Amino acid sequence: MEVPRDPNLIVGLDSFDDAGVYRLTDDLAIIQTVDFFTPVVDDPYDFGRIAAANALSDVYAMGGKPITAMNLVCFPSKSMDISILREILRGGVDKLHEAEVTLVGGHSVEDPELKYGLSVTGVIHPCKVVLNSGAVPGDSLILTKPLGTGIINTAIKAGMADEKTVAMVTEQMASLNRRASELMQEVGVHACTDVTGFGLLGHACGMIQNNSIGMTIYCSTVPIFAQAIEFARMGLIPGGTYRNRDFRAHMVEFAAGVPDWAPDLLFDPQTSGGLLISTSPEKAKALLEKLHCTGHRDTAIIGEITEEPKGKVTVLE
Ligand code: CO
Ligand code: CO
Repeated sequence: MEVPRDPNLIVGLDSFDDAGVYRLTDDLAIIQTVDFFTPVVDDPYDFGRIAAANALSDVYAMGGKPITAMNLVCFPSKSMDISILREILRGGVDKLHEAEVTLVGGHSVEDPELKYGLSVTGVIHPCKVVLNSGAVPGDSLILTKPLGTGIINTAIKAGMADEKTVAMVTEQMASLNRRASELMQEVGVHACTDVTGFGLLGHACGMIQNNSIGMTIYCSTVPIFAQAIEFARMGLIPGGTYRNRDFRAHMVEFAAGVPDWAPDLLFDPQTSGGLLISTSPEKAKALLEKLHCTGHRDTAIIGEITEEPKGKVTVLE
């Protein structure tokens, strides 16, 4: 699609980044993003919280501060009780309140399939925008949240996840990437994206694709929900995993010795996943320390950026 050029557009359609960024003045830019989807958990209030945390995340991934948000609602009012929608919106509002973001409006349409999400506007200094493409060889890679939410959501839909697992994965999906984003800006990083629908390896490929660099990921260091590995072994794999694998197969090399569940977990589509951050090894260590001290218990250094092989992600044991 051809879009006319605007000199104030810092990040637009052609960059495959997490959100759009537009310069208003020399020291102020706005970040804009929108995200909505069908329920990932049964509890409407939790779904609202998760959808809001997920929508805010793209602003955090760019290193920005979300300011305002608008609700997007598709609701089957003829077949579903309106109290369900009220609970969803209450969850969204509570999450926005926690993030200190103001709800300024929204729009709803009649739809046979329930969907909810938000458009979010944030601010950032134009020179402080963190792109997904700035990684350099030698960088360490940090992942702030464990993988496996797609597989566990599939298990929840199949009625196979116990209450404890549902509660754990719900809290993780509803948790904000806010603090992680603030800390990465404090430390200073080269690149960041949030891990969502394309899975860890899909977003990892996005980080290196136009950069003539490579990436190594050490499978044993990647934080993963133990339950997700169990469910993957039982074959509870969401359809999106296969699409993610097919799309990036030519860019990813699995070394001998990598466990056979690894492709399913590393390509698992995440809802409201963690930040994937690329920065120098010294800063990565400092950032990891800060993240561990602020409740990001599962955060880990999972790999590094390499000179070669360019355009490839190598997964080692
Ligand atoms: Co994103
Ligand atoms: Co998004």
